[in-house]
Amino acid sequence: MRSASASAPGKFVVLGEHAVVYGKPAVALAIDRRFRCTVSESSRLLLNGVPDDLSLHPHMSNILKANGVGKISIVTESDLPSGSGLGSSAALSAALSCAVRTMLGKPADEKDVIGEAYDAEFGAQGIGSPMDTSASVHGGGIGVNITCDGEPLWTIERNGNRWDVCDVHAPEMTFVVGYTGIKALTGPLVERVRRYKDRNSFAKDIVDEIGSVTLEGADALRRNDRVKLGKLMTADHKLLSILGVSGPELNRLVDAAAEYSYGAKLTGAGGGGSMIALTDRPEKVCETIRLHGGTPMVVNTGVPGVKAGKTS
Ligand code: PMV
Repeated sequence: MRSASASAPGKFVVLGEHAVVYGKPAVALAIDRRFRCTVSESSRLLLNGVPDDLSLHPHMSNILKANGVGKISIVTESDLPSGSGLGSSAALSAALSCAVRTMLGKPADEKDVIGEAYDAEFGAQGIGSPMDTSASVHGGGIGVNITCDGEPLWTIERNGNRWDVCDVHAPEMTFVVGYTGIKALTGPLVERVRRYKDRNSFAKDIVDEIGSVTLEGADALRRNDRVKLGKLMTADHKLLSILGVSGPELNRLVDAAAEYSYGAKLTGAGGGGSMIALTDRPEKVCETIRLHGGTPMVVNTGVPGVKAGKTS
């Protein structure tokens, strides 16, 4: 019986979420929280040992369809709460694609997995950029539509948008994630911003402004200029709030972290999910996040992307 395992990391967005959907720049860093899965041949479709038609798991069924696989056993394990803004569905898509391809003896390097994993994401959500999937697949840091040092890792085009994705080598910095505990679905939030932007020209201006803040921030990140990067992160949070994707819980955690941080903002789709703070005082930020009702996590970056095999 053939079987294979793979894992892929979650991520947080330093700058640029939502605007990246329209081809604006973004920077995301993979984190040391992973999604793992093991697949094996089976006489029926099983998810974590239970028969399942995957109707509630479109990312998974899209990956199976792309590989012409019907009956399979999938066992999953994740360090990433779903709907937390930490890219759990992209990590799932990347890990499952790599595991299934490895089991079938197909090539499963990052360039083989990225297209399939992004198609699964896009098919499930009907909207969205390849930023999350790229961060999960490549690991480390990625920049989208920023000035690349070398050749882009890959270029993806869809619905008139183009995303050139390149490797970003981020210097060592400490980021604390604060999870609100509120699950938020990415698709409806992205759709809400799209409608807003289509109806209001000033919402379109905000999207453009996020793009400019992100380009400046990508430069500050590479130069290790924490003060500048932090200010731009906080500015980005304000712009995202105007777009309507923050909320009282996120604002409370961002405000609370501000005192001990260079800057703080929501990360990912928003509406709940998580915020991040760039800080030299992680203990203080963790304490205040806890005091304000959130769950803090000090995350490490510079981690590998999707890879076949078992990982702890
Ligand atoms: O909340 P997450 O981890 O699914 O991140 C979503 C990021 C968005 O920019 C809001 C959407 C996208 O497809 O880029």
